[in-house]
Amino acid sequence: DYPARVKIVDVGPRDGLQNEKQPVPASVKIELVQRLQDAGLKEIEVTSFVSPKWVPQMADNAEVMAGIARKSGVRYSVLTPNMKGFEAAVAAPREYWPDEIVVFGAASEAFSQRNINCSIAESIERFAPVVEAARAAGIQVRGAMSCTVGCPYEGEIAPERVDYLAGLMKGIGVQRVDVADTIGVGTPLKVQRAIEATLRHFGVDEISGHFHDTYGQALSNTLAALQLGVWNFQSSVAGLGGCPYAKGATGNVATEDVVYLLQGLGIDTGIHLEKLIDAGQYISEHLGRPTQSRVARALMAR
Ligand code: HMG
Ligand code: MG
Repeated sequence: DYPARVKIVDVGPRDGLQNEKQPVPASVKIELVQRLQDAGLKEIEVTSFVSPKWVPQMADNAEVMAGIARKSGVRYSVLTPNMKGFEAAVAAPREYWPDEIVVFGAASEAFSQRNINCSIAESIERFAPVVEAARAAGIQVRGAMSCTVGCPYEGEIAPERVDYLAGLMKGIGVQRVDVADTIGVGTPLKVQRAIEATLRHFGVDEISGHFHDTYGQALSNTLAALQLGVWNFQSSVAGLGGCPYAKGATGNVATEDVVYLLQGLGIDTGIHLEKLIDAGQYISEHLGRPTQSRVARALMAR
């Protein structure tokens, strides 16, 4: 039995754009968020409060958060890896605060070092006060877990590593977690093992799938997660993106393709596919690249 409904976080404005070499103007990011919410997305990962030296593309985080026109019922999230990031995210008036912050750790030590410049244990020490401050401020907390099936530096990652990280995330008060296949190497059974390891610490309603599509497995992995009852997913409009610390890894699975899959299964997402394709075309045209969504390409060719 598949879940009756699915909620998608479009991570395009953040995961999708963070790796772009040419600066994308804040106005374009704001328009992309607008089009995503117009298409019916109820959760949007807008930006990240990270070091602009590490990720220059997200340096306009405050401008983007202040520029989006909030729609009621939509949850806007941002990445905050440490207190400095959290403080920056709430430095603005309350109406510009995120509804949810995301701390992001890795199941692999090497990836933790490359991505956030500290060990897994140190990352949890940095996240703990962020989680506490966010929850005290009434902001929800998600934890992203990178490299839950494979790591660009360590190779295959055992489910025990995911179990360990998920336990640490739970221990500091993270409310829900993303099981991420950062470099898209996962296949359905491996992804299911990573989800099962996470289920030892979080309920199925608190787990989301975050699959990059480097090896073309992300839709299969989505189906495998659905089979375990997971009903929250992250995807990126037009399949934008890639992580700067995961060389060669492509974007997230395209939101359009996930929506098409779910529609075919009779699962409700509340997302309007044509409007979503328009949002994908908007950003693809801005970037001067064809969409990575197979569904968008097929429907536009008709
Ligand atoms: P660090 O160098 O260890 O931190 O960076 P530090 O505390 O030693 O500070 C060094 C400098 O950074 C200082 O500036 C700080 O002020 C500044 P300086 O004195 O040299 O001028 N700094 C900051 N500036 C702005 N915002 C901040 C901040 N923190 C410190 N929050 C840090 C640690 C995590 C900040 C750094 O390593 C970093 O920014 N890394 C980038 C991580 C990132 O954004 N990765 C991509 C997102 S994760 C992802 O894509 C995976 C995901 O999609 C799931 C998946 O697919 O796997 C979520
Ligand atoms: Mg990602």
